[in-house]
Order: sequence, then C-alpha cells, then structure tokens
Amino acid sequence: MKIAVFSTKPYDRKFLTDANSCLEKPHQLEFHDAQLNSNSSLLAQGCDAVCCFVNDNLDATVLQQLAALNVKLITLRCAGFNQVDLAEAKKLGIVVARVAEYSPHAIAEHTLGLILMLNRNLHRAHHRVRENDYSLNGLLGFDLFNKTVAVIGTGKIGQVFAHIMQGLGCEVIAFDPQPDPAVAAAGVSYVALNDIWPTADIISLHCPLNTNTHHLINSDAIAQMKTGVMLINTGRGGLIDTPAVIAGLKSKKIGYLGLDVYEEEANLFFEDNSNSLLQDDIFARLLTFPNVVITGHQAFFTREALTAISNITLINATHFEQGEMAKICQV
Ligand code: NAI
Repeated sequence: MKIAVFSTKPYDRKFLTDANSCLEKPHQLEFHDAQLNSNSSLLAQGCDAVCCFVNDNLDATVLQQLAALNVKLITLRCAGFNQVDLAEAKKLGIVVARVAEYSPHAIAEHTLGLILMLNRNLHRAHHRVRENDYSLNGLLGFDLFNKTVAVIGTGKIGQVFAHIMQGLGCEVIAFDPQPDPAVAAAGVSYVALNDIWPTADIISLHCPLNTNTHHLINSDAIAQMKTGVMLINTGRGGLIDTPAVIAGLKSKKIGYLGLDVYEEEANLFFEDNSNSLLQDDIFARLLTFPNVVITGHQAFFTREALTAISNITLINATHFEQGEMAKICQV
C-alpha cells in the first residue's frame, strides 16, 4: 500500500527502507521531512495510510483532513499514542496501529544512563577534564546500593528498569493501578502513590500520558518528596508540571532532574535549532541548573529498537492491507 511517512530523518528512512525490502510485498513509502499537522496533511493525498511519530499532530482536525483524503490507516512508529484523538479516529473509521513493544531495554538502559550521569556528575566531570580541570569539588555522588527507587508504571519498560535497579542492589518500590504479580514475585513492593513520595530516593516515570497521569508530578507531590530526591522522566513530558519542578529545583527539594521528554518538545526536539534563538523560557530555565540533564527524546534510539519499530510498523500495514485485522497491533 502507499504510505505517507511523516517527520522522517535519515535514520528513519534507512531503517524503514531496509525493513520494507525484506517484505514479500513491499509498500510504497513516500518520505516527508514535515511533521504531520493541519498544514501538511495534504502530503498524504493519494496514500492509503500515514506513518507517524511521537510529535505528529493527529487531532480531530487533522484526522478529518486525512479521512477526506481517504486515508484508512495510521501506522504509528512508536509505543505511545497520546498524540492521537482516538475517539475521532474511531468515528471516522480510521484504524490506528502502533508498535506496542520494540525494545524496553533501550528506554530502561537510557534511564539508568541519566541516573548515573546525574548522580556522579559525569556531564560536569567530562567538561572539567577537557578544560584541564581535575578538581572534584561539586562532583560528590552517592552509592546507588541500598537506595529506594520508585517505578511509576510497571509495564514493559518499568519492569526492565526495576530489574536493572535491583541488580545494582536498590530496593525497588512501585505504583501501578494494575499491579503485576510477576513483578511482585521478583521482589518489587507495590505501594500507594502517596507512599512513593516520602519514601523514594529516586523516582522514575514509566506510565502512559493520559487524563489520569497528566501532571502526576505537581507541587503537591513534590512537597511530599524527600529533600534531594532524584526525578527521572523518560515517559512523556506531560507527566510533569514543569514550572512546579523548577520551583522544586530552586528550593533544593528536588536534588536531581533527568528528562528525556518535555511537555512542549514538539516545537524543539529532533531538530538542529543551533542557529535559532531558544524561545521557550521554561525550557531555558531548566537548562541553567547544573543538576539537570536533558536528552532530546532519544531513549528509544538504539539499532535494535529502530529495527523492531520499522519491521512492526510495516507489518501492521501489511496485515491491514490483507484484511487480517486481528493481527494488527491496534490502539
Ligand atoms: P506499557 O503499556 O507496557 O506499561 C505502562 C504501565 O503503566 C502499565 O503497567 C499501566 O498499568 C501503567 N499505568 C497506567 N496508568 C498508570 C498510572 N496512573 N500510574 C501508574 N502506572 C500507570 O508501556 P511501556 O512500553 O512500558 O511504555 C511506558 C511509556 O514509556 C509509554 O507510554 C511511553 O509514553 C513511554 N516511552 C518513551 C520512550 C522514549 O523514547 N522516551 C519510548 C517508548 C515509550
């Protein structure tokens, strides 16, 4: 089938082209740099499907435009689907497919990377050594061993992350509205959300963004946290009320902040903006803290993950084309 692929970078084109060439009946892929929104939706003209990523806009207006172009399938090349108005898609009869699982290890390992970087001040140490500065003042870290790590959302990624932290000798506690007995059997203690805040030395977010989890980390939650807590978000930007977190950093309640996602990232991430002025004052403030490390939504970005994402994205389209609806990973 003919698929308009939005928000593509060279690596997307390479991995999708490689995956497509392995299919018995390859699809016709039309790659676009443009993000999908109401101004770019016309690029899908003549296509049966669109392939989208995390910051493409699939609100009601865009979905109606796609339906008018006779697009019948949205094949997301990501796990999260908070960018899609699912009710509208259903109303319009557009099928939405996603990649439910590709490599939970990619995200969980990146989460560990942020923790180690913040704890041992690796970002600052790296710059110091390059400046011929070998002083250790300000680089003091703490042992992860025996610390309490809270995992919010023990799905595929949260489980791998919990296991990694257990391997470092941490005590892992968790909150999930649907506790997994296998996770509990592996030694993770499920507790109420209100018990996470005063107990955890490190809090890591691995739940989806939805109406229940929007601004889960807000001023109320922060007020209950341990002073000096480390907060890590590789889930979705909207899980955190960023101004509240900035206030927490300024008061030193939050001792460390690691982000791979940001609520307003759609206007920033995945692009080289180095020749432009940063217009987002909240993001700019975050960048001033020495105890904040931000990566630009790269936790998923491993060879293994991109290979799996590309394969599953295109196989979802193949199943749709063949009418094998039960085999599609539908949202
Ligand atoms: P999953 O669906 O396997 O697990 C999500 C878990 O969160 C489930 O166990 C669910 O019960 C739980 N949950 C739902 N509501 C909750 C709440 N109110 N509080 C606590 N837990 C709740 O999803 P997976 O694959 O583990 O991914 C988790 C999230 O990670 C995705 O929704 C996505 O937003 C994010 N993600 C980020 C990536 C990155 O590159 N930074 C890449 C892939 C996913």
